[in-house]
Amino acid sequence: MLVTNKDLLVPARRKGYAVGAFNVNNLETVLAVAEAATEEKSPAIIAVTPSAIKYAGLPYVSKIVKTAAESSSVPMSLHLDHGEDFETVSKCVAAGFTSVMIDGSHLKFEENIALTKKVVDLAHPKGVSVEAELGRLAGIEEKTVEEKEAILTDPNSAKEFVTRTGADALAVAVGTSHGAYKFKGEAKLDFERLKTISGEIDLPLVLHGASSVPAWIIEKAAKYGAELGGARGIPEDQVIRAISLGIAKINIDTDLRLAFTATVREVLANQPKEFDPRKILGPAKEAMKEVVKGKMRLFGSSGKA
Ligand code: G3H
Ligand code: 13P
Ligand code: ZN
Repeated sequence: MLVTNKDLLVPARRKGYAVGAFNVNNLETVLAVAEAATEEKSPAIIAVTPSAIKYAGLPYVSKIVKTAAESSSVPMSLHLDHGEDFETVSKCVAAGFTSVMIDGSHLKFEENIALTKKVVDLAHPKGVSVEAELGRLAGIEEKTVEEKEAILTDPNSAKEFVTRTGADALAVAVGTSHGAYKFKGEAKLDFERLKTISGEIDLPLVLHGASSVPAWIIEKAAKYGAELGGARGIPEDQVIRAISLGIAKINIDTDLRLAFTATVREVLANQPKEFDPRKILGPAKEAMKEVVKGKMRLFGSSGKA
């Protein structure tokens, strides 16, 4: 069934687990998430970025995800990830998204508040949940203390931000970043900062850039020709610690991309005569589904639907 992020995340924060938000941009990824959620009896968030919308087309992507959610026995939401402006958000709300993120993290504090509040005023009367972001997701290695303070979420302003905007969930910057190259050395998140923020705010907190970049996928990709040297993600024990400190939504894109492409490489290498897309993309879907199921177990959302 199709629900909002608020429906999924409020119980998650209260009970101490997290719901995965999985980025999709094609049919196979939607199927992988929906099938994994059903088999794990887990809630799931299906996340669509503006560039995924550009790639697949808003009517296609929204209808495919809605079809998956509405024909499923477990609760799923259709979420706009990193909505960049009011127009994009408005179009997604009109297309039936049940949750939107407005990413004003690049704006000045007052401008971020004003834009987020404008989105909340549009979304809430229509029953659509809103995620906002305070602080910027960027690699923080080799940055000075002053630079880190400028990038990471300021616990002192987080409470004011959520109170004044009325957002339903807050994405925080505590040292993660998007993509497959998160750390050169040891992974290090600012758990003290996260603890302080979650002490101030009882809304569900969101961790972007949370892929773990599993070694087995990198090895499989490399075996079949990928060049991914130095790829490194968030170790699973750190993900678990983040959940214990109030993270209730965890965004995963990179691990799905890696599983998909590693498997496509494997099939093409092992079956050079194959040219039926279903025989190539089917195994890629299965590989993503295993990744999603693993995340659901790790995040504690399995069995919660
Ligand atoms: O922020 C989420 C992504 O990992 C970037 O996705 O390439 O669809 O914009 P995108
Ligand atoms: P990853 O690149 O770590 O998968 O993060 C995805 C994300 O935050 C999408 O919003
Ligand atoms: Zn993100």
